Amino acid sequence: MKTMWSPGKLWNKCRINMAAHRSRGAGFFRTLLSRCRTPGPGLCQQQHRCCLSSVPAPPTPPPGTWSHQLSRLSHRDLYRLSLTDPDRFWGSAAADRLRWVKPFERVRDCELSSGKISWFLGGKLNVSVNCLDVHVEKHPERVALIWERDEPGTEVKVTYRELLETTCRLANTLKSHGIQKGDRVAIYMPVSPLAVAAMLACARIGAVHTVVFAGFSSEALAGRIQDAQCKAVLTCNQGVRGGRLVHLKATVDAAVKTCPSVQHVFVSQRTEQPAVMGERDVSLEEVMSHHASVCPPEPLDSEDFLFLLYTSGSTGKPKGIVHTQAGYLLYTSLTHQYVFDYRDGDVFGCMADVGWITGHSYVVYGPLCNGATTVLFESTPVYPDPGRYWETVERLRITQFYGAPTALRLLLKYDESWVKKYDRSSLRTLGSVGEPINHEAWHWFHSVVGDGRCPLVDTWWQTETGGVCIAPRPAEEGAPIVPAMAMRPFFGIQPVLMGEEGEALSGDSVSGALCISQPWPGMARSIYGDHQRFIDAYFKPFPGHYFTGDGAYRSEDGYYQITGRMDDVINVSGHRLGTAEIEDALDEHPAVPETAVIGIPHDIKGEVPFAFVVLKEDVGDAPPVILQQLRDLVTTKIAKYAVPEHFLVVKRLPKTRSGKIMRRILRKVVMETTGDLGDVSTLDDPSVVKEIIEAHELYRKEKKK
Ligand code: PRX
Repeated sequence: MKTMWSPGKLWNKCRINMAAHRSRGAGFFRTLLSRCRTPGPGLCQQQHRCCLSSVPAPPTPPPGTWSHQLSRLSHRDLYRLSLTDPDRFWGSAAADRLRWVKPFERVRDCELSSGKISWFLGGKLNVSVNCLDVHVEKHPERVALIWERDEPGTEVKVTYRELLETTCRLANTLKSHGIQKGDRVAIYMPVSPLAVAAMLACARIGAVHTVVFAGFSSEALAGRIQDAQCKAVLTCNQGVRGGRLVHLKATVDAAVKTCPSVQHVFVSQRTEQPAVMGERDVSLEEVMSHHASVCPPEPLDSEDFLFLLYTSGSTGKPKGIVHTQAGYLLYTSLTHQYVFDYRDGDVFGCMADVGWITGHSYVVYGPLCNGATTVLFESTPVYPDPGRYWETVERLRITQFYGAPTALRLLLKYDESWVKKYDRSSLRTLGSVGEPINHEAWHWFHSVVGDGRCPLVDTWWQTETGGVCIAPRPAEEGAPIVPAMAMRPFFGIQPVLMGEEGEALSGDSVSGALCISQPWPGMARSIYGDHQRFIDAYFKPFPGHYFTGDGAYRSEDGYYQITGRMDDVINVSGHRLGTAEIEDALDEHPAVPETAVIGIPHDIKGEVPFAFVVLKEDVGDAPPVILQQLRDLVTTKIAKYAVPEHFLVVKRLPKTRSGKIMRRILRKVVMETTGDLGDVSTLDDPSVVKEIIEAHELYRKEKKK
């Protein structure tokens, strides 16, 4: 077979036919859930394509194993077992699905009230072995990655063999530069095979990666590098997105000036433009070519750190969510297979960037652990035109398409012909993630994109949960999907809704704070460097339960509908942002003594930040100049997407007598629901409300002009 990809020509265009393949025979109750057992076409009530396709029957688990016993259970019984006997359920899954260097001795040791979470104790394994070597042994020429580059029609395919070799070269490169087990490594790269190899190279040697979304500013990157005390950074000279260049190396240069822990910056060439190289900089392609394509994997404890991923909370500083080895890998692989009905030979298309948890779990770890062909989408939904996603589906024959509602809301504004002109017959499952999906977007996705024949799963989960926790699938055969609803807990997930007094709400047709009352293997283990914050944020609000920060409604049928965040976290285009983070950035302006940021609905982005700004009395510059400076501040301190869509200058903010800003009132002013202000007995000076309503009224009129 023609070599498709090598360190020397990492970014070059190259194509081959995908090898026909069969994946590892992970027998774990797969027969039960992924296929209808009705004997032929036309017999399944749902007319699922799964019944009509000619996928070969998976091997039956060997008699006498747990898997063999579990594969006989119905979905309902399996779910019940996952809650009543988690040791048996997860123990058999881990033993069957993962390759261990040393078998685990105990399935779990967890105590949610104290934030102690350990799974598969005593076991040793290597995640990169499970994602690469096990597949290379069986089918080295199977395509692992299809890199859908920004330039349409220039995709690059990378086989499992090639990805293993590159991962090993990269792992050896890191080792030769002093990176060892436990060291933190920052990855600031666009979606690309090299970014995936970098993650897996860290996993191979036991280094802990922290991928930073390549849209974050130098200050945001520096903050993460400093918090994690990273020893090295991997980046590219430039990124390319939507036809535009992004100067990644320049951003890293600015960031590492304040990061003394960084000893090396490895720079790959994505474009022709040579990077300006400094003392700490190493040319990645060049140095990798001197290293062997074999690297012995480090045996790691189940609970050694795999990665940190920074995400926003309700306080100012993003937190480094810690995920560990075995539990995370098992959970992502199981959810990848069952939530999306993944089967051998599928081309799994998750559109997320590797800088977010969705990219970690469903572009990289879940699919690769299952031996899948996974798509790396480098571009945007509208480049070069609004047909980009569907043209890609046609060209790559994508079977599962997993995207964000914000992109769907953008695309449905265009003519349907942008979808219809492409062949989407390869699609079998559609998925949505990251924010609530509205009915219009759900129906458009289901009927226009999926022609009404593909199950569409709204998947609810979080950076902290590691993988999907609530989704319509898996379910009993034929169970209908309720539009725009996440519906059912995954195996091992026990949702509980809590009332205002902290009491668990029983019965259906109720709303409350969404908690999960049993540990599961994919859940986060800590906040890097601040375990107490981990306990306080997730386990203190409702002792003995994991608190998600979201509210939810349980319908009369017992299905779950996510109603949105209950804290000061907002979701802009599917990206999570703390309003406090934006306030901290704005407050750095010398003319701004005080700000308050809230999230308000937006028809495409879901939510956008709205900033209320108090200016000092005798500021030199005119307010419009200051507001522009504030926009620039947020761009440099966080990222462009965090810049408030609205700024309203006010004289004062509504506060309680103890000085706490009452954002609830600001929300009501903007939403024009001040007729019902709720309890204002703690408001220090009620006249402030009238003042703000007037200022907002003026602002609205100005905007309309
Ligand atoms: O508010 C929920 C929302 O996104 C938050 C998690 O954000 P993040 O950690 O960045 O992970 C996003 C990708 C998993 C949640 O607390 N969210 C995520 N999925 C959904 C959702 N809200 C409603 N419906 C969803 N399907």
